[in-house]
Amino acid sequence: MGGGRVAVLTSGGDAPGMNAAVRAVVRSGVAQGMEMFGSLHGYTGLINGEFRPLGLRDVGGIVLRGGTILGTTRCVELKTDVGQVKALQQLREHDISALIVIGGNGSQSGAHTLSKKGLAVIGIASTIDNDLYGTDVSIGATTAADIALEAIDRLRVTAASHQRVFLVEVMGRDCGYLALMAGIAGGAEAIVIPEVDIDPAAIVGELRTARDRGKSHAIVVIAEGARHNADALVQYFKAHEQQVGFELRVSRLGHIQRGGSPGVFDRILATRLGVGAVQHLATGRHGELVGVIGGEVVGTPLAEIANRTRRADAQWPELARLLEV
Ligand code: F6P
Repeated sequence: MGGGRVAVLTSGGDAPGMNAAVRAVVRSGVAQGMEMFGSLHGYTGLINGEFRPLGLRDVGGIVLRGGTILGTTRCVELKTDVGQVKALQQLREHDISALIVIGGNGSQSGAHTLSKKGLAVIGIASTIDNDLYGTDVSIGATTAADIALEAIDRLRVTAASHQRVFLVEVMGRDCGYLALMAGIAGGAEAIVIPEVDIDPAAIVGELRTARDRGKSHAIVVIAEGARHNADALVQYFKAHEQQVGFELRVSRLGHIQRGGSPGVFDRILATRLGVGAVQHLATGRHGELVGVIGGEVVGTPLAEIANRTRRADAQWPELARLLEV
């Protein structure tokens, strides 16, 4: 496909680096002779026909900005047949022949549905959770891990002053990537993730042992999707305060993890994937998610991505266990 009118949208939870991807898509699209448009507010704008022309200058100065200049939603209507028909009709009415979807699992499932209905769609892997199939790492994940790490470092300072245990809950849905990266890098005394079910009694035992070995404080990083999440652990720890031996505080980092300026890794990843997505379209490829595997930009059929989620690599929990002493 040379030339043609192409729309790009950002969908689902925003992730640092989405703007860098939009910039790369627009600039490389223009270089290919394509006419570029942004669909505003994710799939909602697609359904409502909210398109905005995007030229080279419209994406100037955004590479450093977190969030997404296009806006985003979690669009329930696209899950319905009526919503899908409206979206395809809007694209036809605006003479737009291809769509690039920057987002995570839910967004790529939507892309797959539209692709099955005949639209030329390319996905770009973007989610702080890093739970997408078809890529080793998604846009936003490393910046979010850095933000969580900075918070953990700060919490360690106050935990040490007060000789406390801090339970720090991080995002990630059912994937322990963020908890593992921030927890290992922050020297956490325990990391609780959905992939490995740990008994709260075992964590209490570890904290007690750590205290007996002379540790004055501790950090426990908990992924929000773990069976024993922060709420469950707080209840258990409160009921067993004597055994824990430390005073307890809880900190949920929440959406702060999504709001940062993208780091160098995410800006470069977003740039490579944005350019890769346009190159795919230009060579007539679509119905794929563009990600990075083994350092290379590759496309994986959306049919393989949809309804699957990636879990944290097994090497990381092992490494964490080795160092949690
Ligand atoms: O998928 C990204 C993510 O930040 C998850 O880690 C989190 O569970 C969820 O989105 C929060 O969603 P919302 O922004 O809709 O509250």
